[in-house]
Amino acid sequence: MPIRRLPETLVNQIAAGEVVERPAAAVKELVENALDAGARHIDVVLRDGGRALIAVTDDGCGMTPEELVLAVERHATSKLPDDDLVHISSLGFRGEALPSIGAVARLTVTSRPAEAEEAWALTVEGGKLGRPQPAAHPKGTRVEVRDLFFATPARLKFLKTARTEVSHAQDTVNRLAMAHPQVGFTLSDGERKLIGLAPAEGELFEVRLKRLSALMGRDFADNALAIDAEREGIRLTGYVGLPTLNRGNAQHQYLFVNGRPVRDKLLYGAIRGAYQDFLARDRHPLVALFVELPPEQVDVNVHPAKAEVRFRDPGLVRGLIVSASKHALAQAGHRASTTVSETALGAFRPQSGPAAYQGNWGGARTSLPRGLAEATATYAAPLHNTWGQQFGGQQAGGQLPGLDTAPAAVAASAQALAREAAEPEAEAFPLGAARAQLHGTYVVAQTADGIVIVDQHAAHERLVYERMKQQLGESGVKRQMLLLPEVVELEESAAARIAERSGELEELGLVVEAFGPGAVVVREVPALLGEVDVAGLIRDLADELAELGEALALRERLEHVCGTLACHGSVRAGRRLNAEEMNALLRQMEATPHSGQCNHGRPTYVELKLADIEKLFGRR
Ligand SMILES: Nc1ncnc2c1ncn2[C@@H]1O[C@H](COP(=O)(O)OP(=O)(O)O)[C@@H](O)[C@H]1O
Ligand SMILES: [Mg+2]
Repeated sequence: MPIRRLPETLVNQIAAGEVVERPAAAVKELVENALDAGARHIDVVLRDGGRALIAVTDDGCGMTPEELVLAVERHATSKLPDDDLVHISSLGFRGEALPSIGAVARLTVTSRPAEAEEAWALTVEGGKLGRPQPAAHPKGTRVEVRDLFFATPARLKFLKTARTEVSHAQDTVNRLAMAHPQVGFTLSDGERKLIGLAPAEGELFEVRLKRLSALMGRDFADNALAIDAEREGIRLTGYVGLPTLNRGNAQHQYLFVNGRPVRDKLLYGAIRGAYQDFLARDRHPLVALFVELPPEQVDVNVHPAKAEVRFRDPGLVRGLIVSASKHALAQAGHRASTTVSETALGAFRPQSGPAAYQGNWGGARTSLPRGLAEATATYAAPLHNTWGQQFGGQQAGGQLPGLDTAPAAVAASAQALAREAAEPEAEAFPLGAARAQLHGTYVVAQTADGIVIVDQHAAHERLVYERMKQQLGESGVKRQMLLLPEVVELEESAAARIAERSGELEELGLVVEAFGPGAVVVREVPALLGEVDVAGLIRDLADELAELGEALALRERLEHVCGTLACHGSVRAGRRLNAEEMNALLRQMEATPHSGQCNHGRPTYVELKLADIEKLFGRR
């Protein structure tokens, strides 16, 4: 077959295959054009999911009839005045969107520059160019796209339901709106207004938080930590959510590079790295992060829809995101998200209706005395060390493994508890004074203005983990020799994985070596763990190592493994704690960064304010 030049319309249809993959992609191109035109208000309307109509109206700079003709021509753009692909400051630059859309749909662009007396309209239908006609339109531009993909019916078949297509378009406009809080946006599906955002004026951080809170919800605004960091000319701003506010997918991670929304693997990876200590792998934080860097440091011309970018120094960007986010999270200390206590309060709230009322009353009657009895038992229990008794006295001084309970503190808190509620000093601490342990699992403490309920397993796991990481960073994790080395049998591959990593594991305080093909022998374990189920620990570690593979740097791998170790070394739910152990746990949580959530992102405690409790009982 002879080689031939393809006709213009076909070329444009091919380009459209990449540039307008679905209605949301057309919306993105048109809204970006409006933003590049300096619009203050942008209105988007979709009908039938964008199949029947996509209309984008702006109040930007507009076009003359001559410019209209050029605008729909392929590779015609006003955005590269110096043939310079390096210093791109606009969202568009390829001059492809309008001709591509015109090749696969019926496109009408109506426009009027600010200084012009009249507006002009130009139509392109399936690649056939019309002529500019006088029209009525205020300053700005209106682009109407009708019958999308009528000229390429194969594409039509790939479209999903109108609802799905609209929700993609909504997500697209949301993302652009986050990056441009000074611009007002509306989006309607022809019947309902799905987005309505007024242009915001004021200081950037303030207007941005307002916009983010409108789009991501009040929960995010209330539980987000501000980020403002800079390294070698790269600036990172925005917000990262507390780990306890998390979701099942990464949909709510909004990332921007020089004002451009991106879905970049490197950036998502950096966020995963920043939160890896605080969240299970299947939970995802909420973030909105804005990277600003000199245009020559980033190539935006690597993806047809410009959704991905290439950084000149990816390590620098990644490092900045990881360290700035971690720093912000550490500053937040033991804070857990407000949604946790709100959910708790919601659960307490009496339901209306006589049946529910009866049920609650019945429940309260039986459970209240039981709770009190348990509390009393805890107070009354002699303050000897139950840990030592239950676990064979391995722990010197009878402390929880990994916790400091100095004898003086023990005596002091014993007296204090004997005096019952009279302990103003402890109550002044953020997590208050321990008053009871309920169901062998929850420590209940009284604070100056509320009640704190701690999940002892989750909290202790976090403390052990943080302590291990700290030891790891300092002198290496302290080890404790097993009286009898323990042989653990495993699958051959699992045993090999453990043996291969014995050097790393030793750094973590675990001394282990190969023992024949399908077994390892464990000689020493991290002292922080106390008495552990060695076989269970080794099996979990083998799984963990299989999953991590070679993907992560040594340091990150060690931190992952710390998490597995900590979980094994933690006080199990169901273990009785005495008063000084409970108070030691609370004091240590206050002193430990990140103690508001366990390694899996679950909260370690909830706080109920007296004011809210009073509301529950109708006292306020
Ligand atoms: N809403 C608009 N307001 C003003 N000018 C516009 C608008 N949309 C498009 N244009 C003009 O048409 C040109 C071509 O647009 P487009 O095909 O999207 O390519 P690009 O945005 O890459 O330049 C733009 O460079 C711009 O000059
Ligand atoms: Mg464009």
